[in-house]
Amino acid sequence: MRIFIDSANIEEIKEAADMGFIAGVTTNPSLVAKEHRDYHQVLKEICALVDGPISAEVIGLDYESMIREAQELAAIHPNVVIKIPVTENGLRAIHTLNLKGIKTNATLVFSANQALLAARSGASFVSPFIGRVDDNGNDGLALLHDIVTIFDQYLLDTEVIAASIRHPMHAVEAARMGSHIATIPFSVIKLMIKHPLTDAGIEKFLQDWKNK
Ligand code: G3P
Repeated sequence: MRIFIDSANIEEIKEAADMGFIAGVTTNPSLVAKEHRDYHQVLKEICALVDGPISAEVIGLDYESMIREAQELAAIHPNVVIKIPVTENGLRAIHTLNLKGIKTNATLVFSANQALLAARSGASFVSPFIGRVDDNGNDGLALLHDIVTIFDQYLLDTEVIAASIRHPMHAVEAARMGSHIATIPFSVIKLMIKHPLTDAGIEKFLQDWKNK
């Protein structure tokens, strides 16, 4: 499973990217809004930090706005992938952008059917929001498992991004079930790195070294 960071914050993207395991970045309108900065400028800076797919989301809900915004965002850098919500207009936009050679990430996916339709429309990635499914009283990991199984069964090229990851076990389970990618907030990445026995082990080694 490849690890993407789910963030629009340049400092944390840089800090995570410097550790070497970040293969891509996903943003969304809420994450970008938190930064209070120019959207295109933020995307340019992210593209300079990480050499991998960088998801940028359209805001417009009608087909024409989606295509216009997608073309503007795609012109920023060849690594930009256009995030489009799965709606009727969204699927139509995914199909058109695929024909134009622009990669898309179908977002706000909450059912296996939405994921399958987006893949068949030509999405390069689909993003099931597993944490939000859990929040809604359903099983986000079960949804992820269904999508990974269906995509494997039909040898679909579309990659699955486990999104809306809330804690380290979400990442472990996503990897266990064969999700291609997990996009993870920096706070959760930090929890994945840390283990109390690693800290205790370092402490003990240093103590023993001092007493040698
Ligand atoms: O970027 C999409 C997704 O990861 C959002 O997560 O925590 O807002 O549900 P969250």
